Amino acid sequence: MNDARKWDRIHGAQQSDPPRPSAVLAEFEHLLPPGGDALDVACGRGGNALLLAVRGLSTCAWDISTVALAALNKLAADAGVHIHTECRDVTTDPPEPAGRDVIVVSHFLDRPLIPHLIAALRPGGLIFYQTFVRDAVDAFGPSNPDYRLGANELLALFRPLRILAYRDEGATGDIRRGWRNEAMLIGRKE
Ligand SMILES: C[S@@+](CC[C@H](N)C(=O)[O-])C[C@H]1O[C@@H](n2cnc3c(N)ncnc32)[C@H](O)[C@@H]1O
Repeated sequence: MNDARKWDRIHGAQQSDPPRPSAVLAEFEHLLPPGGDALDVACGRGGNALLLAVRGLSTCAWDISTVALAALNKLAADAGVHIHTECRDVTTDPPEPAGRDVIVVSHFLDRPLIPHLIAALRPGGLIFYQTFVRDAVDAFGPSNPDYRLGANELLALFRPLRILAYRDEGATGDIRRGWRNEAMLIGRKE
């Protein structure tokens, strides 16, 4: 089965759960500009894209799963917002340079894509990034360590940006508390 069909099956099975914005966007929503062009990369059913569109940004959402995009189109219509959805393999067709004020990526890690994401930001543009880490407290998330971040890896990947926020607690301290298993970063292109 190719990747798109695999994700179609996963999204088809999850239709009853409403998609939610990722923590990096929900907790730092106040950093968003009042308008501009936003892109949700590997959007799934688009919890991030919906938040961006409701906040008044002109929002594109890309994914390889047509099932996910169909669900997002319906959710956007129900919410009374427009999202420009596109079935697009971002590994072979990354965003064009200097076209976005906001880019959000959650739970998708393709390291060669990251320089394209940085290039796709306009000056002053923001990236919100969140995904799984290797230094986790349980097995939730991808089993292949290649799809998990190493310690401080997000900081290294986004070094050209000004880092506004970063969080990765690893397995330090009382693991019953805190925000675990993932890292988040918000960067600004100066
Ligand atoms: C774990 S889901 C995350 C979805 C959403 N961003 C979230 O946080 O809920 C990963 C998403 O990446 C999409 N995806 C996988 N490979 C892709 C590719 N090469 N180009 C675009 N989307 C891709 C999948 O279809 C899936 O919707």
